[in-house]
Amino acid sequence: MVAAAVAVVALTWLWAALVQLVWRPYAAARAFTRQGVRGPAYRFFVGNNEEVKAMRAATSGVTLDLRSHDFISRVMPHYRAWTSRYGKVFLSWYGSKPTLCVGDYDMVKRVLSDRSGLYAKTDPGPEILALLGMGLVFTEGDDWARHRRVVHPAFAMDKLKSMTGTMAACAAEVIGAWAARAAAKGNNKKFFTIEVGQQFQELTADVISHTAFGSSFRQGKEVFLAQRELQFIRLERKVRGTLMEIIHERLAAAKESRGYGTDLLGLMLEANAAGGGKRVIMSMDEIIDECKTFFFAGHDTPHIAPPHLGHVPPWHTPGVTMVLYETLRLYGAVIMVGRVAWPR
Ligand code: HEM
Repeated sequence: MVAAAVAVVALTWLWAALVQLVWRPYAAARAFTRQGVRGPAYRFFVGNNEEVKAMRAATSGVTLDLRSHDFISRVMPHYRAWTSRYGKVFLSWYGSKPTLCVGDYDMVKRVLSDRSGLYAKTDPGPEILALLGMGLVFTEGDDWARHRRVVHPAFAMDKLKSMTGTMAACAAEVIGAWAARAAAKGNNKKFFTIEVGQQFQELTADVISHTAFGSSFRQGKEVFLAQRELQFIRLERKVRGTLMEIIHERLAAAKESRGYGTDLLGLMLEANAAGGGKRVIMSMDEIIDECKTFFFAGHDTPHIAPPHLGHVPPWHTPGVTMVLYETLRLYGAVIMVGRVAWPR
């Protein structure tokens, strides 16, 4: 009797594994081939993972020519190889999971502007969720719309423009430090090397600390540092505790009619307090998650761009916007955006 039960369980398990690892990949590949979408062949269980690993290993030591902007062949060699072989839309395999890579502009636009919920956001997993929080980047549907209502006013053009002075002051501080280092070298040693990547990371952390948390920027910077550490160890409580502290100070200030503040947090809290603060749109936890999102989404992306601005020849103010757009086009800080085309 027991042996029979064990056999049934084992057979059921085997059947489910066969469906998942053999039948589904075969059926999905066939369905895509019929639509003219090709790609690297599925390998049992591992999909294309081994090929991706091998291609990455082969290019990991390559140093790009300073004048070359072709970083995709260095960062995502498999993507380069497969687009040239199979076209802008191809099917690859993350283990037994079919992954449709879409590089066709109209198709990307259709997926990203879809509001029917057909293309869900990818599951961030517990580590990323701890880092970014369940903010705008991961929320969906009604929750996303509710969060947007609160966060959107903080990103109005006039509000952002009023923050440019703060941003320029942060940049001036960095340049001032460089100038001081040059001066300290004395007259005959005016040239010195700076690791700009790290400097810009610091700069964008300062900018987001000031623009998101205004006068509370020191606590903001603490959150940022804790959040950075959180990537390696668990500092969730520290991040949450400090953010709570900042938010409570703002709520107290608003109660005493001193206002919520003109930074991103203040503007967000103001929009949240619909009906004079009696009825809020987002909970404290949700506000905290949006703060985490600002920090991570607002820092880890722009710091990539400025170092590349240095590659362009000397430019003048009217060309700055064009240079910025071109830099973002060539060195997009987000190289891939994922969506799931089936219900989770
Ligand atoms: C060069 C700089 C930046 C780049 C390349 C960039 C890129 C992106 C991309 C591609 C998305 C869409 C993600 C998806 O749909 O899955 C996104 C969303 C978002 N980003 Fe950025 N970002 C940048 C700067 C910032 C900054 C400075 C902030 C905040 C201070 C920010 C906050 C957000 C937020 C809140 C979302 C979610 C928007 C929503 O779904 O309504 N980003 N960003």
